[in-house]
Amino acid sequence: MISHFYMPTRVVAGQGSLATIGTLARDLAMSCVLVVSDPVISQQPFHAEALAALEAAGIATARFDDCGIDARCSHIDTEGARVRREGIDGVVCIGGGSVMCTGKGIAIVATNRKPMAECTGVGRFDKRALPMIMVPTTAGSGSEVSQWTIVKDEERHLKLLGGGPLSFPDAAILDPVTLRSLPMRVAALPAVDALTHAVEAYFSAIGSPITDALAIAAVRLQYGSLRASINSDDERAREDNLVASCMANIACGNARLGHGHALSLPLEGHLDLPHPYGVGVLLPHVTAFNLAVLPQKVKPLAEALEVETAGLSRPEMIEACAEAVRALYRDIGFPEHFTREQLPEARVREMAQRAVPGLYAGIAARDFDPATANDHTVIACPSARKMTVGQAEAIFRRCLA
Ligand SMILES: [Fe+2]
Repeated sequence: MISHFYMPTRVVAGQGSLATIGTLARDLAMSCVLVVSDPVISQQPFHAEALAALEAAGIATARFDDCGIDARCSHIDTEGARVRREGIDGVVCIGGGSVMCTGKGIAIVATNRKPMAECTGVGRFDKRALPMIMVPTTAGSGSEVSQWTIVKDEERHLKLLGGGPLSFPDAAILDPVTLRSLPMRVAALPAVDALTHAVEAYFSAIGSPITDALAIAAVRLQYGSLRASINSDDERAREDNLVASCMANIACGNARLGHGHALSLPLEGHLDLPHPYGVGVLLPHVTAFNLAVLPQKVKPLAEALEVETAGLSRPEMIEACAEAVRALYRDIGFPEHFTREQLPEARVREMAQRAVPGLYAGIAARDFDPATANDHTVIACPSARKMTVGQAEAIFRRCLA
């Protein structure tokens, strides 16, 4: 089988690395940048330091600080027009996943001159996005090294993914100083998302030895440092989380994501469930589902999840992997189930049907009629094991408390 691996983003990591942002921007020939952030991050001291470093390097700055929980198409389209109007030639994102997805969307529509929704799907635009520098403040979405942006089409209640080789960020700065301001409860959410990226990349049918190596190393690093980074002030563990999140996304950026993300998408679009809750609660279930057809991958994943494998049969190891994830959730205060408010029982079947187009359909998902999906319809997903609507429905029911 032919596999491709591509990751052109320059990664600068370590304590103090944020101070290099002015030099990086100059290296990218930026002269006036839009700094994208949210109302909380834009008040942090490190945000002011980043702006000062850009200005000290002779780079003018404009700001958009209004990102919310999701990257919204309306924000992206408005800011993309502003970027063109004001002659802005670069985008700097300082924030979590929604901030980076918003900034990436702005960089895409600024050069492609069409609405964000029309840029969703795989490779649906043909001009290189504006140069981008990403400063993640959660560990994390991995969006800093990802060609993909996930945006919300508010009018149609759809979460849409878009991107391609023309929308990779140019540089990512991983400085643990950015994680200091994050409350423990908030830090757990993106950290679980990052673990999901690594595990799902490992299950992919289009992965390669390169993505497998990155994914399993990311699982090991993330799992080994998460408790310390969330439950204590361990700066080294936080740095490990940032690097693990970045590695996980380099893996899944090439191997793509699996059933956790495919099934979570309708919950996020139609029920407004935050992304990390959706993918995180689903993770133990989709892990067991896929490991059942990947016998050679069971033991390496179990070991990366710190399972004592001696004396365990393969089915016992699979169960131990799911339990290791649940034990982590208990220790960091992450839920194992959806509440009935988050996922009403009456809508379970519909959500399983709505998952059919998968994560990578983009705007094409708009035309899909969920009523046409039956128990045997397969959900579009690159994971190793095919999942039907009936199986997805059963998994959703197991996720309910
Ligand atoms: Fe994710």
